[in-house]
Amino acid sequence: MFEDFISIHDLSLYQFSKILDLTKQIKDHPQRFKNKLKNNILAMIFEKPSLRTRVTFEVGMLELGGKTIYLSPSDIQLGKRESPYDVGRNLERWVDGIIARTFSHQHVIDLAKACRMPVINALTDLLHPCQAMADFFTLREKKGDLQNLKLAFIGDGNNVCHSLLFAAAKAGSKMAVATPAGYEPSPDILRQAEEDGKETGSRFHLTNSPLKAAQDADVIYTDVWASMGQKAEREKRAKIFAPFQVNKELMAQAKKDAVFMHCLPAHRGEEVADEVIDSSQSIVYDQAENRLHVQKIIMLLLLRKKTKNG
Ligand code: CP
Ligand code: NVA
Repeated sequence: MFEDFISIHDLSLYQFSKILDLTKQIKDHPQRFKNKLKNNILAMIFEKPSLRTRVTFEVGMLELGGKTIYLSPSDIQLGKRESPYDVGRNLERWVDGIIARTFSHQHVIDLAKACRMPVINALTDLLHPCQAMADFFTLREKKGDLQNLKLAFIGDGNNVCHSLLFAAAKAGSKMAVATPAGYEPSPDILRQAEEDGKETGSRFHLTNSPLKAAQDADVIYTDVWASMGQKAEREKRAKIFAPFQVNKELMAQAKKDAVFMHCLPAHRGEEVADEVIDSSQSIVYDQAENRLHVQKIIMLLLLRKKTKNG
């Protein structure tokens, strides 16, 4: 179906909706998929910390009958101890696929180019496609039709925002993005999402006003203000992003039945107030659960002892 899973932008509309359809099947009938990845081994390269991504890939692989090998930041030192090319050329001799969480997006692309087995993007500084697939699956569960849904992203126009733009474009949803000046999503990503969105009627709007973005939204989404690798900027960003906190006042701009979403981990009291993340509108733990189901499907579509060159 596809060889690697690096960006939602690379998926056809058919592939995008097929992943969501299959995710529903595996969530409803996990037993039917048991052992489908028997004898498959997945290498998991992590240059950054993780709770959800690591656990859901490990549990997912166990439930499908396969095995995982966790490679911590100090094990591999991608690009420092060894180039992504050489890491890929070695790993393909022993395992059946790689998931990689890296700083540099190029490292994931280089790994995928180097080896004949599937590579899955488990978050880079640019994108977080597994997250956005799980999020749109969650939205389909909660809201039904994704077409014309209005999603308001409030905060940093970073990796999660980028992948949500690509997913919204494939789903035909509208997306308003409110960021402080200078923290907008990448113009290249926005242009590509707009291009993708022509096929589905999706529309995007950038603003520096969180209240405007939130108006009549079906979904309010936020992410941390300082991402992994940006710790040194945390204090500076906390001041700049303070008006962008998702709190009750901001939620009141959205539709009455709007849901609150966050990829997690959350910095409570910064980008989101407890009163919102702990409210009945919050679906953050459903998003986290669905990472498991959607990634099982992505692994099933890519692995099963297949290689890129036959
Ligand atoms: N949302 C997410 O990817 O969480 P982790 O960083 O804990 O994997
Ligand atoms: N933008 C965040 C997402 C964490 C899942 C980060 O990159 O740290």
